[in-house]
Amino acid sequence: MSIQDENIAKLAERREKAKLGGGLKRIEAQHNKGKFTARERLNMLLDAGSFEEYDAFVHHRCTNFGMDKEHFDGDAIVTGSGTINGRLVYVFAQDFTVSGGSLSKTMAEKICKIMDMAIKNGAPCIGLNDSGGARIQEGIDALAGYGELFQRNIMASGVIPQISGIFGPCAGGAVYSPALTDFTLMVKNSSYMFLTGPVVVKSVTGEDVTQEELGGASVHATKSGVAHFASESEEEGINTIKELLSFLPQNNMEDSPIIENNDPVNRIDDSLNDIIPDNPNKAYDMYEVISKIVDNAHFFEVHKNFAKNIIVGFARFNGRSVGIVANQPKILAGVLDINASRKAARFVRCCDAFNIPIVSLVDVPGFLCGTQQEYGGVISHGAKLLFAYGEATVPKITVTLRKSYGGAHIVMSSKQLRGDINYAWPSANIAVMGAEGAVNVLYAKDIKQADSPEEKQKIFEEKKREYDELFSNPYQAAQRGYIDDIIEPRNTRFRIIRALEQMANKKDSMPAKKHDNLPL
Ligand code: HXC
Repeated sequence: MSIQDENIAKLAERREKAKLGGGLKRIEAQHNKGKFTARERLNMLLDAGSFEEYDAFVHHRCTNFGMDKEHFDGDAIVTGSGTINGRLVYVFAQDFTVSGGSLSKTMAEKICKIMDMAIKNGAPCIGLNDSGGARIQEGIDALAGYGELFQRNIMASGVIPQISGIFGPCAGGAVYSPALTDFTLMVKNSSYMFLTGPVVVKSVTGEDVTQEELGGASVHATKSGVAHFASESEEEGINTIKELLSFLPQNNMEDSPIIENNDPVNRIDDSLNDIIPDNPNKAYDMYEVISKIVDNAHFFEVHKNFAKNIIVGFARFNGRSVGIVANQPKILAGVLDINASRKAARFVRCCDAFNIPIVSLVDVPGFLCGTQQEYGGVISHGAKLLFAYGEATVPKITVTLRKSYGGAHIVMSSKQLRGDINYAWPSANIAVMGAEGAVNVLYAKDIKQADSPEEKQKIFEEKKREYDELFSNPYQAAQRGYIDDIIEPRNTRFRIIRALEQMANKKDSMPAKKHDNLPL
């Protein structure tokens, strides 16, 4: 064997060894927990044969607690680039089989290198987390590593899409990296995120709580909103990440890919003409409306189980990616509250950052009132959504289906917040408030002074009819030009597609400033 042959054989041997991470025993332990390894996850995520690995031979530099004798090539993380459906992405996957995937200074350097490449080359960065947090033996070095990683997350925000998959533990300050990214996905029953675990919680607050109850996928996907997606399995989670990417551009200077489809542009759906119930207090399902108008009835929902009174997610019109924001009359009558405002504001800003037009479907009775909401700061949270719509410069199309009252009317992509094309269905009611509330305010004295209950009822009915005639329709708004057109519901798909095509080259901007002061 020549020296060069020996060198090449040694390289192959080192590479094979590096691929085993913490070794076969620990791989088996990972499998026994029902979890895949970092490399297996990347294999599922990336197109076959597309993975280019970097820093496979990196070692940590810690010498404390005998760590100088514990070295594994690659040091608890696999990083590199690859393609997903032919599109370039940068990836990192923490390897729990080496020191529990804990973050050393060198692991942080590997991640930062990948992120710098992703930013320079304008491609999404996907991180698969499975880690015991800061490498305890490294002390402040590990914390500094996190700091550098967070700073990269911040620099990349709004430049390239950043997606976090949580496939195991993610605890302590480590949670802030996923929290800084655009989308976080968790796997049910095998991943958790919390600042402090159940033992610390018990000692500080006395609360008895399991890991799953404290920071499992279901909790974060339903109660806190920290997770945008909760998947049943790792495979499902990987597929969700792939599909999510298909709606996003590579970076903030590009548009999302156009996906050919066979759904006719001018498809008319007669059933939409009957979807609004005659009784204004009766609910209907906004999902039905969405599926009847978008390409092939396909809606990719984000934050599905959090703040269900508002629906957000991606769909396509004539192959073009759009973000849909829709009030859901079936849940809390579609009212805007703290969580709905936070959820929609984040989504609107994400769409705007990545050049994705926003289609808003409005049926909103107003903001939720009461001490709980006021004490929780509904004013500031509602202002976030207002701000998000007002600053967004992507094409904004609004369709008002039924109620659109008060502040919520203005917030939901109104003409005054630079809504580009604002349509209303003939069933739309655009007013300061609903008829009953309005009559009770305006005619409180008359009703109070009436001699009998019958007389009170008569005044109420008469004034309500008057109010309904004036405001319980879209015509006053259309007379002022606040609504661009009143459209037949069955034509909604066609009208939205035409509006999107018209605005394909839309240019709008905000005044030059360092940055805004969004009410966080
Ligand atoms: C070094 C660690 C480690 C860590 C785990 N290991 N976490 N090594 N630093 N943070 C090692 C273990 O010693 C063990 O090594 C191997 O990884 C697997 O861990 P196990 O405990 O055997 O696995 P499991 O039973 O599945 O438990 C996983 C775990 C637990 C729940 C994550 O390991 C754990 O509680 N780890 C500590 C978590 C933590 O408190 N991290 C610090 C958070 S604060 P061997 O050699 O035995 O296989 C933080 C600050 C960030 O991260 C601040 C950012 C600004």
